[in-house]
Amino acid sequence: MQTKIGIIGGSGLYDIDGLENPKWVNINSPWGVPSDVILTGELGGVDVAFLPRHGRGHVHSPSTVPYRANIDALKRLGCTDVISVSACGSFRTDMAPGDFVIVSDFIDRTFAREKSFFGTGCVAHVSVAHPVCARLGDAVELAGHAVGVNIHRGGTYLAMEGPQFSSLAESKLYREVWHCDVIGMTNMPEAKLAREAELCYASVAMITDYDSWHPDHGSVDISDIIATLGANSTAAKTMVADIAVRLGKARDVCPCGCDRALDFAIMTAPDA
Ligand code: ADE
Repeated sequence: MQTKIGIIGGSGLYDIDGLENPKWVNINSPWGVPSDVILTGELGGVDVAFLPRHGRGHVHSPSTVPYRANIDALKRLGCTDVISVSACGSFRTDMAPGDFVIVSDFIDRTFAREKSFFGTGCVAHVSVAHPVCARLGDAVELAGHAVGVNIHRGGTYLAMEGPQFSSLAESKLYREVWHCDVIGMTNMPEAKLAREAELCYASVAMITDYDSWHPDHGSVDISDIIATLGANSTAAKTMVADIAVRLGKARDVCPCGCDRALDFAIMTAPDA
């Protein structure tokens, strides 16, 4: 089997550098129109497909991103793996703006999004007990160290609906009671859909702020977020290229089982 990496770029990452044989492709999906046309090519000889989550020009809010169409389009293009890049706020003093976090778990508090490919005609219940791929996480961690960014392995990501940022009481609840590490608006239902599509998924979240809990920092300010994203986008792009080379062209079955998630998940009888 051959690796093809889907890269979903978040705020501040609307393209990638150094792509060989670049080609923009339009993918039709029964789940709607993806966020944008998809840029395909190779990084270090490895096939990649890049999709800006919010669309170029940032036209989709976290609630209107067509998550199902995006994951389906990457699957239809033959992607085997998905690296999600996104911005997040931090609940920890040791996870500072400019740092990267390889997310290890999620609390999904989104409520206004389509979250499954299944439900009408075919019912399936996949496990998301371990929602990210540890094999991909290893590659992201090594790439982060090689590129020289401050990268943290592991962190629970609170996925909120938005588009408003959290109130102080919410921020304290997520930090002090639920012990979340970071907060963002876009990794769910993306991670769940990737699992349903049997795609390995890793999320690398770039910290842009301390949300609203930190006594020495004011409320979240979008101009500060944009400045932090701008300062770190080159590192994110270099890291993505390094991940591709580390994963390499040849691909075996996933030791975590992400690529076989449906094996025991479908409830509906084949002839129903
Ligand atoms: N994205 C970046 N910072 C964020 C925050 N504090 N809350 C939610 N999403 C974010």
